Amino acid sequence: MKERRVIRDRFKGKVAIVTGGSAGIGRATVEELCKEGAAVSFTGIEDSLGTAVARELTEGGFDVLFCYGDMADEEFCKEVVKRTIAKWGKVNYLVNNAFSFVARGLSATHEDWERTLHVGPIAYAVMTQNVAQHMREAGGGAIVNVSSVSAFIAQPRRWTYNSAKGAVHTLTKCMALDLAHYGIRVNSVSPGWIWTREVDKAAGGDRAKWEPVWGQFHMLERCGEPIECARPILFLLSDDASFITAADLPIDGGYQGLGSEGLGKSSQFAGSD
Ligand SMILES: NC(=O)c1ccc[n+]([C@@H]2O[C@H](COP(=O)([O-])OP(=O)(O)OC[C@H]3O[C@@H](n4cnc5c(N)ncnc54)[C@H](O)[C@@H]3O)[C@@H](O)[C@H]2O)c1
Repeated sequence: MKERRVIRDRFKGKVAIVTGGSAGIGRATVEELCKEGAAVSFTGIEDSLGTAVARELTEGGFDVLFCYGDMADEEFCKEVVKRTIAKWGKVNYLVNNAFSFVARGLSATHEDWERTLHVGPIAYAVMTQNVAQHMREAGGGAIVNVSSVSAFIAQPRRWTYNSAKGAVHTLTKCMALDLAHYGIRVNSVSPGWIWTREVDKAAGGDRAKWEPVWGQFHMLERCGEPIECARPILFLLSDDASFITAADLPIDGGYQGLGSEGLGKSSQFAGSD
């Protein structure tokens, strides 16, 4: 990124925190917020990656702060908010995005459950508790929790991940109710398969082979891109969504609408339309 390009200024003068912002959906969200004028704190569990992303954005003229640490650590969550306030004096937006990809079924251990819940819904709650007062002082704010299609469906060997995402879904509504009075909106987004490094790892780096297979889970017959999540997240944060709270926005290319007949079988009946 060589030069500063502000495409729109919906977030000019605003401050955002994005957890898990050094890769994938979080990174795309950080970049889009920066391009639209926000100052952004972001967290990550890989120090060198986050530092490199922060350097690149700073060199591009953007105002960012990278906080290295583990969202499962409540002291770290507090520290992220404290450092953000120390740097910019306020916080207007929060994107709870970092999550544990520990996905286990029958073999799930107590540690697997703890890890998934602590990095996921518990950290989402702790971050929200720590920003709420600052958002109140700023006259309101907006929070987006990154959920998943997995919150709504069964997938093989995924007791931990899917139920943690299910918790995010319900938590979003509870937060929205309790924070509405303070002018703070809380929504979630539920991505389908988005081509980030976890998906790439599962594909063994062979996107050409696996995208046609996994793409079939979606009406649009492909996986999504991180930026296709970032833009709807920005919409929900922005004043364009000023009367939207407690909602879940699917970003799934039609995954949840498809049903078990899927794409292939339904074409048998497509005689005329
Ligand atoms: N990629 C998909 O197909 C998909 C689908 C549905 C939902 N999601 C959700 O989107 C979110 C982002 O996923 P992604 O695919 O972009 O991931 P990613 O692996 O590309 O990036 C994850 C980011 O989170 C950070 N992170 C991970 N664990 C952390 C921890 N314990 N503490 C602090 N930071 C941590 C990483 O450093 C990185 O910056 C997650 O909530 C995930 O469940 C992803």
